[in-house]
Amino acid sequence: MKAPFITIEGVEGAGKSTQAARVAAHLEARGVPRLALREPGGTELGEKLRDLILNDTHIAMEAGTETLLLMASRRELIDRAIRPALEAGRVVLCDRFIDSTLAYQGYGRGLGADWIRRLFDLSCHGFYPDLTLLLDLPVEEGRERLRRPLNDRFEREEHAFHERVREGFLSIAGTEPERVQAVPAHGSGDEVFERVLGCLRRRFGTIF
Ligand code: TYD
Repeated sequence: MKAPFITIEGVEGAGKSTQAARVAAHLEARGVPRLALREPGGTELGEKLRDLILNDTHIAMEAGTETLLLMASRRELIDRAIRPALEAGRVVLCDRFIDSTLAYQGYGRGLGADWIRRLFDLSCHGFYPDLTLLLDLPVEEGRERLRRPLNDRFEREEHAFHERVREGFLSIAGTEPERVQAVPAHGSGDEVFERVLGCLRRRFGTIF
């Protein structure tokens, strides 16, 4: 079986990063070669772009420009990290990917999913993941979980922005039910991890 490319998505505070780390640790314990990445970032250039995109203390930018920078970071990540790892037989796990751009820039910023998908096809080979786990949680509950100062340009957006982002994620899951699986993110970390693992086992069997 070809090594799978799996992404984890969700609104702020849904617990993606925690679950991504648990999946990576689970694979490590099973001796499965893997590569864990995050977006934006994951390459030398990508981490510089991440700082420009997230940090709100310096440069203002248009939503379209923001999207182009995210796609530039993604192109680097695909060509330099994701494809080589998959070709070497490693499972690739990425914390956020194209669905974040569809949800945040397409729905949240209002640029529209069609434009984002066309841009992704042109600039990133339309390289969709094999499976995307969407950790779904009401925006308010995610906010409560964060319990720390809001510290980037997106976290500080108004409530309505984050509602559009959640709607966007759910709409993508409705459009691409094969690729995008919504996982309820309420409950303890252990409970969510059991749901995550259930999805991964149903799709990829004994790797997990
Ligand atoms: P990060 O610090 O990784 O936060 P989180 O723990 O919420 O993932 O910040 C990533 C932020 O960037 C997050 O608020 C979502 C935003 N983002 C986009 O708006 N579009 C994208 O394509 C990506 C990858 C991230």
